Amino acid sequence: MKLMLGLGSRLVSVICVVGLVCSPCFANDAIEQKVDELLSKMSLAEKIGQTNLRGRSSRAKGPLPDSLKATVKAGNVGAFLNVMKPEERDELQRIAVQESRLGIPLLFGRDVIHGFKTIFPIPLGLAASWQPELAENGARVSAIEASEFGVNWTFAPMMDIARDPRWGRIAESFGEDPLLTSAFSVAMVKGFQTDDLSNPTAMAATAKHLVGYGAAEGGRDYNTAQIPEGELRDVYLVPFKAAADAGVASMMTSFNELNGVPATGNQFVLTDILRGEWQYDGMVVSDWDSVIEMIAHGYAADKKHAAERAANAGLDMEMTSDTYELYLAQLIEEGKVSEAQLDNLVRNILRIKFRLNLFEHPQRRKVEQSSILSAEHRQLAQQAAQQSAILLKNDGALPLKPKGKIALIGPLANAAHEQMGTWVFDGRAENNITVLDAMQQQLGKQNVQFAEGLAYSRVKTDAGFAAAIQAAKQADTIVFVGGEESILSGEAHSRADISLPGAQEALIKQLAKLDKPLILVVMAGRPITLGNIIGDVDAVLFNFHPGTMAGPAISDLLLGKVSPSGRLPVTWPITAAQAPIYYNHKNTGRPANDKDYVPIDDIPVQAWQSSLGNDSHYLDIGFRPAYPFGYGLTYSTFDYSDLKLDKNSVKMGGELQVSATITNSGKREASEVVQLYIQDVVGDVTRPVRELKDWQKISLKPGQSQTVHFTLNTDQLAFHNIKMQKVTEPGDFNLWIAPNAASGLKASFKVVE
Ligand code: BGC
Repeated sequence: MKLMLGLGSRLVSVICVVGLVCSPCFANDAIEQKVDELLSKMSLAEKIGQTNLRGRSSRAKGPLPDSLKATVKAGNVGAFLNVMKPEERDELQRIAVQESRLGIPLLFGRDVIHGFKTIFPIPLGLAASWQPELAENGARVSAIEASEFGVNWTFAPMMDIARDPRWGRIAESFGEDPLLTSAFSVAMVKGFQTDDLSNPTAMAATAKHLVGYGAAEGGRDYNTAQIPEGELRDVYLVPFKAAADAGVASMMTSFNELNGVPATGNQFVLTDILRGEWQYDGMVVSDWDSVIEMIAHGYAADKKHAAERAANAGLDMEMTSDTYELYLAQLIEEGKVSEAQLDNLVRNILRIKFRLNLFEHPQRRKVEQSSILSAEHRQLAQQAAQQSAILLKNDGALPLKPKGKIALIGPLANAAHEQMGTWVFDGRAENNITVLDAMQQQLGKQNVQFAEGLAYSRVKTDAGFAAAIQAAKQADTIVFVGGEESILSGEAHSRADISLPGAQEALIKQLAKLDKPLILVVMAGRPITLGNIIGDVDAVLFNFHPGTMAGPAISDLLLGKVSPSGRLPVTWPITAAQAPIYYNHKNTGRPANDKDYVPIDDIPVQAWQSSLGNDSHYLDIGFRPAYPFGYGLTYSTFDYSDLKLDKNSVKMGGELQVSATITNSGKREASEVVQLYIQDVVGDVTRPVRELKDWQKISLKPGQSQTVHFTLNTDQLAFHNIKMQKVTEPGDFNLWIAPNAASGLKASFKVVE
């Protein structure tokens, strides 16, 4: 067994021992000097002022209250969120810089999650592309647009691992896999921040929510998370570590409690891991009111106690609630929080302001010509939407034949607002192109007959059915565009039943009776269970809310101008009752298998009491998901052959070369996501049945073959053992090169000392 310590972490400990003060170990010296100089001039009240993130509800209307301006002038605010207008940001920044005693500039935060004015697919959709560069492009576009409005700090990317499709915020996640999530998180951080935060078009990014929010019990938002430390480190913390290494400017704590301690007051995470182990020197902000929510959690007696817990845990900035403002001075006087601790918090806040170069350029950049919603931005959004769509089923109805009439039915076919998805504050419906717009434009109005059937996704009556059926009767092909409205996923929007809401299934069943090709297009914020209607439709093209350019993206895919290439970033359940569900689960002592599975209807009446089937499954639906992680079809087919490993055993610290040949065996050019999985067969603690270690998205012409090469280092096999040491253990490993997590070519190798 070998202890794997990266070179980086060894260097850190050496420098820190020598350097005495740990937090600025990695920081740029010139900036550290400026931070310290400024800090030495600050009064206690001004220091506390920096820790206050003030804001209004995203629904607030009317001018900024004078009281807010006065607090800025007094130096009592460090940052704002949800300041609506750019001119208001200008005014507040002017007051901070020109009228407050020390002229410390403000941060302006905003939830720019998957676009500012040009809306990209929701993060779960971006992850379905398996192309992190598309997310980086999207984040770049968002930062360019938002910085024009004076936003210099975004509360994104969210990198919570999500294993439960009932949880509304799965929409904001990159899915269930730590590697895929890390790649997309890092890409977005780079896109928002560029390589240099002082770039005028850069926005400081926020890795959120630290940590375990996605493990909310039962998928109920804000709920308790119980995560064993090994799993915390090997799954939930992985993207945060990747983001920290990529230089993410800030992190946000989560609402949930983690193993009994609310994340916002969690010293183990915020100080021991973040500052101690990772040497993170960015800023940590709470979530909205999450400091005072520690009272409801039962972790703080009152506001003052909450401030004490949060400050001592290492929380730098408090969002919206005011416990720091009200009680920090008193807590310092009473010796319950040290002034040195407050200095640490303030240092982290000032550092990000210097890194953003706000002292030199506090005001938003001047633009000669706005690029908001430019043709280039739209084109990138369209590309991202196209690459994110997943073909779940196709009996040959897609791509659509170029001739013939189409009946376009369904509540999302012409719903410009609903195609944007959750967490959109600045995007506007009038800038979006719907499927109806795009199909009519491409095929001619006379060839696309529209009848929504249901005015919005939750409508339960059949009042609109007759018109929809009438339109369908006159067409050669029916395209039903349904799903969830934007508001049905996202924060506080968990669902227990994750099938198509309202009367959508009933209408699809009616349309199926017409015996014409019936194509289902779905736009939603989570996996939608389709079991009740999957047999009624000929094809399913699934899109996690695709954003501004949903129409042209979907229309090109339906017409075969582009082949679908999205792959699932989450395991797709047959029913929500299977949740939590994820591919990288453990094997159990009685792994489910076809041989032993006894379906409910095969059990004899009054059968003898026994552990039927003897393994881990449901009597009524078995043990498989509807579609595995990594799954997705396209308009062609791919064959996998010739899996090769350059050796059967690899020395600890060494590399394994792995390759396989992929052949496009169909008739169209298309893309394939070639996935590399491993399984550590025996571990000091048990290991998952499969773990994604790498992937490549390749495009092949019909008949073309490509040998795909991967290099696997033994460091990539490491996990936290029972003593919480990160190790790669010698022993047997399985490996797959695969089109998804449930199939593929298999080989084995050994790791030897
Ligand atoms: C959410 C955060 C968000 C914050 C500010 C909270 O309700 O959990 O993700 O950044 O609000 O809008």
